[in-house]
Amino acid sequence: MEVAASVGGGGGAKSPDDVIAKHCNACHGTGLLGAPKVGDTAAWKERADHQGGLDGILAKAITGLNAMPPKGTCMDCTDDELKGAIQKMSGLK
Ligand code: HEC
Repeated sequence: MEVAASVGGGGGAKSPDDVIAKHCNACHGTGLLGAPKVGDTAAWKERADHQGGLDGILAKAITGLNAMPPKGTCMDCTDDELKGAIQKMSGLK
């Protein structure tokens, strides 16, 4: 029997790297439209400080914020998957 071991092929949880590469990096990789950049922890922290922490910016990411589309276009991402991607991009815990 052959095992279909496709990563991110629906069903199982998506890895933060997968979500970022497919959905977030388009804007957050370069800071397009004023998006906080991947790895720029200071920029993310300032946002988190204003929104009540990681869960606060997660909530904004889910609903969308100005040019930031709801769920960052990952409509089938769970809250946890989005949170993992945000943690990875921001370096925040
Ligand atoms: C179309 C471009 C675009 C994509 C794709 C995108 N973002 Fe964003 N994101 C933005 C922009 C622009 C902002 C800044 C919005 C503002 O402050 O006006 C932002 C802000 C954020 C913030 C901070 C919210 C806050 O409260 O300050 C989080 C968290 C975030 N994005 C997460 C994500 C995640 C996770 C993904 C991928 C699943 C993603 N984004 C994909 C453009 C994008």
